[in-house]
Amino acid sequence: MCGIVGYVGPREATDVVVGGLGRLEYRGYDSAGIAILDGAELQLRRSVGKLVNLSTHLRSHPTKGTCGIGHTRWATHGGVTEENAHPHRDARGDLVVIQNGIVENYLELKGRLIERGHTFQSQTDTEVIALLMGDYYAETGSLEQALHHTLRELRGGNAIVAVSRHEPGKLVAARLGNAGGIVIGLGEGELFIASDIPAILDYTQRIMFLEDCEIATLTSSDVQIRQLDGTLVDKPITTIQWDPVSAAKGDYKHFMQKEIFEQPRALTDILRGRVDLEHGAILLDELHLDDDEMWRLGRIYTVACGTAWHAALIGKYMIESLAQVRVDVDYGSEFRYRKPLLGKDTLLLSITQSGETVDTLAAMEEARNQDVRSISIVNAIGSQAARLADGGTLYLHAGPEIGVASTKAFTSMLVAEYLLALRLAAARGTLKPDQVREHIQALVEIPGKVGRILEQTDIYEELATRFQHATNALFLGRQMNYPVALEGALKLKEISYVHAEGYPAGEMKHGPIALIDKELPVICIAMRDAIYEKMLSNVEQVKARGGQVIAIVTEGDERIRALADYTIEVPATLPLLTPVLATIPLQLLAYYVAVRRGADVDQPRNLAKSVTVE
Ligand code: G6P
Repeated sequence: MCGIVGYVGPREATDVVVGGLGRLEYRGYDSAGIAILDGAELQLRRSVGKLVNLSTHLRSHPTKGTCGIGHTRWATHGGVTEENAHPHRDARGDLVVIQNGIVENYLELKGRLIERGHTFQSQTDTEVIALLMGDYYAETGSLEQALHHTLRELRGGNAIVAVSRHEPGKLVAARLGNAGGIVIGLGEGELFIASDIPAILDYTQRIMFLEDCEIATLTSSDVQIRQLDGTLVDKPITTIQWDPVSAAKGDYKHFMQKEIFEQPRALTDILRGRVDLEHGAILLDELHLDDDEMWRLGRIYTVACGTAWHAALIGKYMIESLAQVRVDVDYGSEFRYRKPLLGKDTLLLSITQSGETVDTLAAMEEARNQDVRSISIVNAIGSQAARLADGGTLYLHAGPEIGVASTKAFTSMLVAEYLLALRLAAARGTLKPDQVREHIQALVEIPGKVGRILEQTDIYEELATRFQHATNALFLGRQMNYPVALEGALKLKEISYVHAEGYPAGEMKHGPIALIDKELPVICIAMRDAIYEKMLSNVEQVKARGGQVIAIVTEGDERIRALADYTIEVPATLPLLTPVLATIPLQLLAYYVAVRRGADVDQPRNLAKSVTVE
């Protein structure tokens, strides 16, 4: 959730840290702070609000020095105030700490610290870490030791970074559980630390990932990583292929806009090397499941959160229909506490853009505890979900997604699930190579079709003008386009704060129909498929009550055009692939309405990109 950046090397640390935080602001953005060491002087600056407020503050209260840390906060404990912004100091002013995660036993620790005579300057759980570390530092005189002892007292998932004024030129960091990643970037004579790769991509593409229960010590020339028992870890270095340009906004006004328009590229990249049109084969070598295992599968449990959960619902249609395996879909947050019954013939599939969502990770751990294999569909390279999946990870290769509202990752997830469904179908003999070839042909045409939808944007300007003051919206779809309706509603409410509901169109008559009046925009996904006629009747029902129908239809559909107030056409494709195409107009609609309403598209209020708390 929160963003963490640290630097040690020859450069001005303030520039590196604040620049990096700018790249992470999508993770949390209610306040920000930095601590920069100038020799033994620890300069602390914090501001409420977005990072720009901190930058403004720094112009009148500059910091200097070549070692420092910074943090953007997404409040969990304590309101949005300067006192609650990170970094937090220990009682003696020896060190400062930033944290991402939650200290679950913080009340107990706080009680003990108060008994020892400590007073608290903030309401945060992080201050507990700072005070504990400070006490241990006073005892041991070592930053690593202080962190090490403190970690033993914490419960929960935490990513922690600290510096001390007595040890300028040194950063210590630790990761406990799944509170979010920590990546270490290796430069020439300089080292970087961050909660996500885009923060440091301007400087290096050579990355190490810190695992659960590991502590790192960084100086400008060296990094040492140890496990909690002191064993040195020989960490592999991963070279990240993303270039800094792909993590920047370029000519686009918003990241979300850029990411919507990147979809033809992202949907091409996900297919690269994975489809063999000639032989009608799907190559997913990254999955460590052999044909026999796929053949014996009795059930797939898909777990995900937010937009990824919508992708999971659509994937259920794909996998059940093509590979004839039963699929159950659950929210990570529900699954983990339900004591789910997973049989030996079950495979857990987790879907997550960030690979960090704590509820999804907990579901994976539950599967592991029950000896159930898991595979994951993930965008962020090297993230925890990728590493937890013992059956392998299907990477989206969509590139960094910065806009908080997920767009290109969502459609890439759909294509990933389609590939998985086809691979399973081939192994289980539910599709012959010729049939697989037809599906591959449809898949390779998808990026071009998405590109065609993106060429027509005038209609969204018009719709945004017409509906900018709407207070409610209803999204209707059926079967695999019902989750598309859910996703369309989520996109609109996330970024424009218009209350929106997604509904299966057949259920409209059991409640939502009461909402319809001449002001209510009703977005109907009415593709030419097996239940087209049923959807047509639902459109009639909306019109009969005066609702404003915006219909997403298959190119050339005149019947719905005659009924609807607005029609948006998408190219024809196979029915199970229509969700990919039908989603694009809904993303654009949400985007244009949000822009027209003057909303903060990339950083909607109260939300965060990676949700590493429960
Ligand atoms: C947050 C984001 C959503 C995302 C969800 C799951 O709520 O704002 O856009 O869909 O987390 O994230 P994941 O990284 O697991 O896909």
